[in-house]
Amino acid sequence: MKKDIKNLINLPEHVAIIMDGNGRWAKRRGLPRVFGHREGAKAAEKAITFASDIGIKYLTLFAFSTENWGRPEEEVNFILKLLVDYIDNKLDNLLEKNIKLRFIGRKEELPENILKTVKKGEENTENCTGLNLFIALNYSGRAEIIDAVNKILATGREKITEEDFRNYLYYPGVPDPDLLIRTSGELRISNFLLWQLAYTELYFTEVLWPDFNEEEFLKALYDYQSRERRFGRIKI
Ligand code: IPE
Ligand code: IPE
Ligand code: MG
Repeated sequence: MKKDIKNLINLPEHVAIIMDGNGRWAKRRGLPRVFGHREGAKAAEKAITFASDIGIKYLTLFAFSTENWGRPEEEVNFILKLLVDYIDNKLDNLLEKNIKLRFIGRKEELPENILKTVKKGEENTENCTGLNLFIALNYSGRAEIIDAVNKILATGREKITEEDFRNYLYYPGVPDPDLLIRTSGELRISNFLLWQLAYTELYFTEVLWPDFNEEEFLKALYDYQSRERRFGRIKI
């Protein structure tokens, strides 16, 4: 498979993924939802490695939304613990693969121990120059826009352009996603990257996130290659 992958042309520079369907994956097996999250974490690791191996420059994964706090406390804690474990146990792998890890979302609202681990992950991979990995944690697109507006108000400005507005987002220098993948068959954005997705190609698959593997990732990339991006213009 590696050989095929090398021939991939027209790769998206930035792939964003809504990793959905962990709960249903577990339910179908008669297991508690957290089992789905555990498998989902493995699938995320696979996707990160694959993106890094094929040379994708930016990968943004939706791990936990601001709305996900509304789930049972046990489930929330389990998801957050998975993330802490990932950073604690896989930091060496990230460094080895030269992956730069950053988080987007309202970090200041995270419990202190989570924030400490998040910072550890970011600081340790700060000088990496390979895949830029963004994990959206306590993230929502509307919150990001409101946070930007409040930063702008604090400067005392009264008028702003689109380009300038971008400078107040969590990571202004990052190109907008070229491809958004959502698993589990849901056809919605669920408050992810609302500003950035304006001209992103959308790819939806019925596959539940824990079953998403290299083959499924490739299917999404091949589909992307067949798209004609026009950005409101016409083809000449
Ligand atoms: C995605 O899977 C993981 C998170 C939202 C944290 P879900 O937990 O939403 O799984 P479903 O959608 O209930 O199957
Ligand atoms: C989106 O999935 C959030 C993440 C994948 C982290 P949800 O499962 O929370 O979205 P809805 O509730 O189906 O829209
Ligand atoms: Mg879901």
